[in-house]
Amino acid sequence: MPHPVISATGLFTPSHSISNAELVASFNEYVERHNAANADAISTGEIAALEPSSVEFIEKASGIQARHVVDKANVLDPDTMCPRISERGNDELSIMAEIGVAAARQALDRAGRDASDVDAVLCAASNMQRAYPAMAIEIQHALGIDGFGFDMNVACSSATFGIQTAADYIRAGNAKSVLVVSPEITSGHLNWRDRDSHFIFGDVATAVLVEDVSLAPASHWDILGTKLKTVFSNNIRNNFGFLNRTAPETRDAADKLFVQEGRKVFKEVVPMVASMICEEADRLGIEPSSLRRLWLHQANAGMNRLIAQKVLGHEASADESPTVLDTYANTSSAGSIIAFHKHSDDLEVGDVGLICSFGAGYSAGTVFVRRAGV
Ligand code: COA
Repeated sequence: MPHPVISATGLFTPSHSISNAELVASFNEYVERHNAANADAISTGEIAALEPSSVEFIEKASGIQARHVVDKANVLDPDTMCPRISERGNDELSIMAEIGVAAARQALDRAGRDASDVDAVLCAASNMQRAYPAMAIEIQHALGIDGFGFDMNVACSSATFGIQTAADYIRAGNAKSVLVVSPEITSGHLNWRDRDSHFIFGDVATAVLVEDVSLAPASHWDILGTKLKTVFSNNIRNNFGFLNRTAPETRDAADKLFVQEGRKVFKEVVPMVASMICEEADRLGIEPSSLRRLWLHQANAGMNRLIAQKVLGHEASADESPTVLDTYANTSSAGSIIAFHKHSDDLEVGDVGLICSFGAGYSAGTVFVRRAGV
């Protein structure tokens, strides 16, 4: 009887990091320049002056202290305030594939797996660099995998949806080894000029190797159960898409980047996710308070604190619900996987934990895992 497990994970972290102090200095320079250039219109009330950002607010509201990005110089340049990623030729590896391959190679190395044993690649991320060919097929080709690949996007929940999809292939006997790769260049969809959200995101890539237990290394994570949920909401939205070019008058509008009603997201997503976790734990016969560790989606420290408290029944320690928000910020679908990758080696055989994502859609995914092996 096929049984899916997580054999290994991989992580690629861009070398450049932006501190809150650097980010706020650049944003406030932009605000000053904007207000000076529009002084007349501001004094007549025609337009409102922009307000400065602050390091204290960012840290208190989100728990974020820094974020990695693929292009620090242009993000921080007050004249640019977005990454500038040059087009590459069709015969060169594209940047999303490049960072995805780096994370995937690490996962394969950690599992002692040869790429030729992998059957499928899912590229599960919030944004795809192009329409087609699928990023997953490029990653598959770069790794030398003989099988199939496709892209899937469920925003911040992409990785857990990818893990369930991979697990289902294995349960159905259609594959034995599946790579779920999440390259997230979120700096490209973030509006770095928007005070409410300019601090939220960072870039990274993760990979999860999901395999049938018959193939997996001795030390692995049993997948005890997975559950997915989506509920339509406009509170996190990005209207960028291929039809934008057909409406040139709105092509560059701010809604073609990430926008959110942060307060509403906070209020609506916390109870939805906490009850989903408890219901799924109940179905699997797991007492939520017995969960050894929660690897939660990394969007906001306050949200994670509340969700963990509702699930565990007490204020979670950093050991029970580790954060990577301080150094990585919100990396969309990769966040819970980074937390799992960096904070799981110390668990004992038999320990049960939860990988959980949530985000735009709304969408949420749970993957209950148990440490197995030697
Ligand atoms: N610097 C300084 N002050 C700021 C600021 C900034 N960068 N951005 C907003 N503020 C101010 C606001 O103007 C407001 O001032 P006021 O009270 O005088 O009106 C105050 O701070 C509170 O703003 P608000 O937007 O309500 O903050 P918040 O406490 O809700 O935190 C978020 C904002 C976005 C961090 C928070 O709502 C959040 O994380 N929500 C969930 C988001 C999420 O998980 N999204 C998923 C994405 S995948």
